[in-house]
Formats: sequence, C-alpha cells, structure tokens
Amino acid sequence: MLHKNCLKTPLMVQTSDHGDIFSRHSVWVNGPVIVGAGPSGLAVAAGLKKQGVPFIILERANCIASLWQNRTYDRLKLHLPKQFCQLPNFPFPEDFPEYPTKYQFISYLESYAENFGINPQFNETVQSAKYDETFGLWRIKTIRTSSSISPSEIEYICRWLVVATGENAEKVLPEFEGLEEFGGHIMHACDYKSGEAYQGKRVLVVGCGNSGMEVSLDLCNYKASPSMVVRSSVHVLPREVFGKSTFELAVSLMKWMPLWVVDKILVILARLILGNVEKHGLKRPSTGPLELKNTEGKTPVLDMGALRKIRSGKINVVPGIKRFSQGRVELVNGKVLEVDSVILATGYCSNVPSWLKENEFFSEDGISRNPFPNGWKGKDGLYAVGFTRRGLSGASLDAISVSHDIAKSWKEETKQKKKTVAARHRRCISHF
Ligand SMILES: Cc1cc2nc3c(=O)[nH]c(=O)nc-3n(C[C@H](O)[C@H](O)[C@H](O)COP(=O)(O)OP(=O)(O)OC[C@H]3O[C@@H](n4cnc5c(N)ncnc54)[C@H](O)[C@@H]3O)c2cc1C
Ligand SMILES: NC(=O)c1ccc[n+]([C@@H]2O[C@H](COP(=O)([O-])OP(=O)(O)OC[C@H]3O[C@@H](n4cnc5c(N)ncnc54)[C@H](OP(=O)(O)O)[C@@H]3O)[C@@H](O)[C@H]2O)c1
Repeated sequence: MLHKNCLKTPLMVQTSDHGDIFSRHSVWVNGPVIVGAGPSGLAVAAGLKKQGVPFIILERANCIASLWQNRTYDRLKLHLPKQFCQLPNFPFPEDFPEYPTKYQFISYLESYAENFGINPQFNETVQSAKYDETFGLWRIKTIRTSSSISPSEIEYICRWLVVATGENAEKVLPEFEGLEEFGGHIMHACDYKSGEAYQGKRVLVVGCGNSGMEVSLDLCNYKASPSMVVRSSVHVLPREVFGKSTFELAVSLMKWMPLWVVDKILVILARLILGNVEKHGLKRPSTGPLELKNTEGKTPVLDMGALRKIRSGKINVVPGIKRFSQGRVELVNGKVLEVDSVILATGYCSNVPSWLKENEFFSEDGISRNPFPNGWKGKDGLYAVGFTRRGLSGASLDAISVSHDIAKSWKEETKQKKKTVAARHRRCISHF
C-alpha cells in the first residue's frame, strides 16, 4: 500500500528496514522514471531537461552507454555517417571523422550527458515494473549494488515509465551439442576486444552479422586463422556507393520509390561493387535487405574489409555446426575442423520481458509491437525508446516524441495539482 504522503511530496523517500539481507525503501518520483542510460535514455533525459520536467534514470552498470564502453571490440566504428547517429540538440564535434570511432562516440555521449546535466543512478538494476491499476501509478522495483554496501532493494513509484534498455541488452548464447567437451576457449563477441591474444590460433567465429564479419576481419589482421560459420543467408552491402554512404543513398531513394524498388537497386549495386558473394558461401536472402530488416529485424552487413579477406581465403567461410567434440567441430556438410577457440557472434536480445509486467505494447521478444514511427507510446504512461530496429537515428526520433508527450502531460497534471492544493488551502482558510 502506498503511503498517502507519497502522492503529495515532490520527491519523498520512505525507509523501512526488513531485517533481511536487503534493506527496502520507496521513492516517489515527481516525473518519469527512465530505465537505461544508453543513447536512448540519455536522449529522452535531455529532452525532458530542456522542458523543465524532473526525472530519474536507473542504470544497471556503473557508467553511461555501457554497451559501448564495456561490450564492444576495440576496432569498432559507427557504420553510418555521423549525421545519422547524433542525438537530438547536440551535433558531433566538427573535427570528428565521418565515421567516428567507438571512443569518439563514447566521448560524445559523455559530453552530451554533461551538457544537459544528466546524472543517472548507476549500479541499479530494474527487477520488475508493474502498473498499479488502483492508484494509476507504475511501481518499479530495483536492486542497488555497490562494492561498499550490501545490496538494497528500492521501489520507485511514478506516473510515467520510459523503457530504454535497448534491443541488445543481453547476449544470445545458442546451445550446441558437445560444446561442454570442446575444452578450448569460448566467448561471446561482446567480450571480444581484439585479436592480439589469438595470433597463430585457429578460431571458429559463429555468426556472420556485422559482429561476426568484423571479428573475423580483426582476427586476420592479428594473424589468426578464422573460420566463419554462415548457417543461412546474409545481405552484404558496400558501406559506400560511389563515395556516398549506402544508407544515405537508401534514405534518399526511399523518398521517391517504394521499398521493394530501393531493395532491388541496393542488391544490383552490391553485385556491381562487391561481385558475386554467393560463390564464397555468402548466400543472399530472397527478401531484400530493407524489407528483411523491417520484417525480421535482420540487419544487413556493411562490408568493412572482411569480403577481401574472404575472397583471398584468409577468412574460411563454413556452413552450420552439427556438433562439437574435444578441440573439434563437425559441420553440417560432414567436414571436421580442428579449432583452438570459439567466438560466438550470435547476436543479442532485449531483456524487457524479464522485468516489465506487460504484454500488450511489447512483444514476447521484448520489441515494440507497433512498427516505426508509432512504436514509442503505450498505455497508462508507458513509453519505449530505441525498440523499432532503426538504430541511433530511430532512437533519437522516438526520444523527441516521448519527451514532448511526457512534458505535455506532466505540465497539465502539475497545473491541476496546484489548482487542487490552492482550492484546499482556500477551504482551510475559510474554516477559520
Ligand atoms: C557491437 C555493436 C555495434 C553497434 N553499432 C551501431 C552503429 O554504428 N549505429 C547504430 O545506429 N547502432 C549500432 N548498434 C546498435 C546499438 O545497440 C544502438 O544503436 C544503441 O546502443 C542503442 O542505444 P540504447 O540506449 O537503445 O540501448 P543500449 O545502448 O543497449 O543501452 C541500454 C542501457 O540500459 C541498461 N539496462 C539494460 N537493462 C537494464 C535494467 N534491467 N535495469 C537498468 N538498466 C538496464 C544497459 O546497461 C544499457 O546501458 C550497435 C550494436 C552493437 C552490439
Ligand atoms: N559498427 C557497427 O555498426 C556494428 C558492428 C557490430 C554490430 N552492429 C549491430 O549490432 C547488432 C547485433 O549484430 P550482431 O552481428 O552481433 O548480431 P546479428 O546481426 O543478430 O547476427 C547474429 C549471427 O549469428 C548467427 N547465429 C545465431 N545463432 C546461430 C547458431 N546456432 N548457429 C550458427 N549461427 C548462428 C545468425 O545467423 P542467422 O542469420 O542464420 O540467424 C547471424 O549470422 C546489429 O544491429 C548490428 O548491425 C553494428
């Protein structure tokens, strides 16, 4: 049951010690709670700051943009030109290159947070969030961890909840027969930094998305011998066409032509520039690259140099995996490879279904059910940013819509509350 004072005070903390390993208290938030301090969470926070709306950001890691700071490899650069990756109201520095490095992107995000005075609450993981129909409020339970104190459980109570935990919150680790017998080193691509430690090693890279391709390229550059598993099909596109970014070209063409025509043009251009990739084991899907992204969320690969290594045989493309055994992998075509290490570039997923007690607005996969540009607003003050498979540019557009919508309701409710308080005050005075 909520304490009645919670509804009157702008920001109030109640504490009650339960005497178990957790100490518990409730916090009433006069404004939205934003979950996640990645680019999406920061962009909403900046929009709210500009409009004078108070908020709290909860972040499980000990820093902003933890995906970029802790779970990406060293050679990573933005794949799209910087004008498509900047957050609202804060351009990239002019001296940044067209495709900033991950370090430049992180420093940009740090300046963004500083510029708008955004201070997330770090080391605080949201465990559950549920709408309380009786009170018309969201109740968000977290665990706060810090090395110096024992974990504490906190409940936040608010009118608006912004989900900004990302489409790539958790790694996907498929099960493979015999993997426990393998004996060599196994890691997910989110823990891979560089190929330095793999010099001279035979490495199996599972997956041929942007991560799998780039990890394989990096391994080659460090004189390792990668074999890359391509179990189905993949669209590989050049990063640039005639000196212009392929993404920019697609965006311009889509203003004039239907998506299926743009898809046909992209595939023809890819064939002209990259040649026939199918003869190297990279089968193209029958659905076009943009349609596939929209329908299945499968991102086309933008070639950063891996194709050259595939053509020269330095990256060995192999089909799907049948089973692992000690130091070996058997493939579906019956071939057996001896390998020292395995890197699982098998992708990521959303973690929303594990904590948000709601299933109308978000799908079972934790992605917005409504496609872009309508995937940002749910019922009862629920919002989502960065869940429509549009990367940073989609997240920025969502963030603008979300911050305006919340600011509008927050201002109306604040005005209404002030009127109610003034009326009560007048009634009290008239009784004397
Ligand atoms: C290797 C890699 C490279 C990429 N490169 C590009 C690119 O060049 N261009 C592009 O547009 N997109 C790129 N993406 C996609 C990228 O994920 C997004 O564009 C961007 O990071 C999305 O921002 P976000 O804030 O929505 O999610 P995230 O960056 O994932 O941030 C979500 C935050 O929420 C926090 N969080 C999660 N769960 C909880 C919880 N329960 N409680 C509290 N906090 C929580 C996480 O710790 C994280 O800090 C890339 C993705 C990967 C994996
Ligand atoms: N610089 C950049 O911009 C950059 C760099 C890296 C990543 N990213 C982005 O980050 C997101 C995630 O990319 P990602 O490459 O990590 O993941 P991804 O695009 O989801 O690719 C996962 C790959 O793993 C394969 N896979 C999954 N399970 C498998 C299994 N059991 N056996 C064999 N193969 C399996 C998939 O094959 P199937 O297709 O057959 O399922 C796919 O090739 C994407 O949006 C991507 O664009 C961006």
